[in-house]
Amino acid sequence: MIIMSKPDSVLTEEQTRTLLKKAEGAMKHAYIPYSHYPVGAAILTGSGRIYTGCNIENSSYGATICAERVAACSAVAAGDLPFRALAVVTDSEEPGPPCGICRQFLSEFVDDLPIIMANLKGKIKKGNLRAYLPAAFTGAFIKDREGEME
Ligand code: THU
Repeated sequence: MIIMSKPDSVLTEEQTRTLLKKAEGAMKHAYIPYSHYPVGAAILTGSGRIYTGCNIENSSYGATICAERVAACSAVAAGDLPFRALAVVTDSEEPGPPCGICRQFLSEFVDDLPIIMANLKGKIKKGNLRAYLPAAFTGAFIKDREGEME
C-alpha cells in the first residue's frame, strides 16, 4: 500500500525545534555496542504526533536497524500516517542524512518528505526525500505486472 502525502513545504521554527529535540532524546537510547555511533530520529505525522527511534545494532551486523526505520515503523504500527517531516540527529562533524535503505523504506509511505538533520553542536541541514532518492523504485512498477504471473 502506498500512502501518498504532499508534505507541507515548511514547518514552523517551533515544530522544527521540537522534532529535533525529540530526535536528540531518542538518540540517548541508541543500542550501539559495535559502532558507538548514536542516531536519533523523530517523525511528525499528519495527526501532529511524533514518533521516535534510535539505531539498534546486532551482533549479526546486517540485522541492525537504523533510527529512521524504527521511528517509521512506530508510526506505521500506530496507524498514524501520513508522515509530515523527519528529523535526524547524529554525533558527527556534519549532520548525517538517512542511509539508502531508510530512504527507500520511507518512500513506501510518502511521495516526498522534508528532512531536517542536525549534529550535537547544533549544525542543521535541510533536505527532502525526493531529492535524496531520485528515480525511486515504487510499488507502481510491481502493480504493472499484476495478473502476468497467473
Ligand atoms: N545508522 C542509522 O541509524 N541511520 C542512518 O541513516 C545511517 C546509519 C546507524 C546504523 C548503525 O547502527 C550505525 O548508524 C553505523 O552505521
